[in-house]
Amino acid sequence: MLERLDETPPQIIMQVAAEFAADHRANKIDLGIGVYRAEDGTTPILQSVLEAERRLLKSETTKSYLGPAGDPDFNLAMSEIILGRHSAQGRISIVQTPGGSGALRLLFDLIKRANPDATIWLPGPTWANHVPTLTQAGLKHRTYRYFDSVTLGVDFAAMRASLEQVPETDVVLFHGCCHNPTGADLSAEQWDAITQIVQERKFTPLVDIAYQGFANGLEEDAYGVRSLLAHTPEMFIASSCSKNFAIYRERTGMAIAISANADIAALAMGQMRDLARVGHSMPPDHGAAIVRTILRDPELSDIWKQELEDMRLRISEIREALATAFRVRTNSDRFDFLATHRGMFSLLGITPQQVGRLRDGHAVYMVSDSRMNVAGLRHEQIGQFVEAVLSVID
Ligand code: LMR
Repeated sequence: MLERLDETPPQIIMQVAAEFAADHRANKIDLGIGVYRAEDGTTPILQSVLEAERRLLKSETTKSYLGPAGDPDFNLAMSEIILGRHSAQGRISIVQTPGGSGALRLLFDLIKRANPDATIWLPGPTWANHVPTLTQAGLKHRTYRYFDSVTLGVDFAAMRASLEQVPETDVVLFHGCCHNPTGADLSAEQWDAITQIVQERKFTPLVDIAYQGFANGLEEDAYGVRSLLAHTPEMFIASSCSKNFAIYRERTGMAIAISANADIAALAMGQMRDLARVGHSMPPDHGAAIVRTILRDPELSDIWKQELEDMRLRISEIREALATAFRVRTNSDRFDFLATHRGMFSLLGITPQQVGRLRDGHAVYMVSDSRMNVAGLRHEQIGQFVEAVLSVID
């Protein structure tokens, strides 16, 4: 039967990773997949994570099942990081998922069960995996205006105009912070305005927050999700611990549904448990156990917060240094946006052909839409990178 299968379209981010791995040039630079790298080029295990693992090794007495919703202590501890203080107690349903991707898939499946005709509105552009995942869940999508390719910032007037078209029955996906792929984030005032639009239009927001702590700080980055939580009866949140705990391969995330009241929340929880059970049965435990151990220990928690802050600051420094290097070299402000963007990614604004020339001629790898992972660049590579970019756009 397998001969009946169609060719698989390339998964663009994974394709860049494979091409980079196959390149043997010594000076190659990987700005493709969203993985943080330290100044020595490694993606180290955080000290807080190592210590949590040591403690787990000593204290764990069983590897027996925890159930489809995962570890309730992890769910509670991590939801506190995302939601902060709030008044939605009793209206929250949470399941632990295999990464943020697993959370998205589960929430799309939940939406499909609740309203099979719902359309998911996505920012233009959005993370490459959003459309395939929601399509696999049987949902339709549309795009709302988000990025201005001239200013390389958010076109908020256009965004507002798009959102004012969304019917009550649809779901709008927002990136909580560190917009992927553009790096152009919403300000607190813009989040307030969005919250107001959501209240007026009554559609359901879904916040994908995979990079909390990488933009302006752990608390600051939750501004949007918390603003929506305070003012909307119903919403969804997909969260990931891959980046902020640097536990990428441990596949640790959570899906949250906020319902209008406790009875509906119980219904949602039953469906979410069921979707977990039929999807992957139960989530992997190790990453969640690490996160729970860190967050439940004030000392470890402080160490983690500092490590996260150090990662955030390094990304900021690279952004500043990169923008300065371009400014000095070109005598223009064309690349100043690199310093104002937030999180791991920036859309460089060059063509797929120019991205191809960067790869072939200069061993610099990024996604074909010109998304670069700023967090993959080291200070010593900035000169090489700037010259490479300027040579392909001249
Ligand atoms: C990315 O956007 O590069 C990351 O979220 C990793 C992934 O799975 O695509």
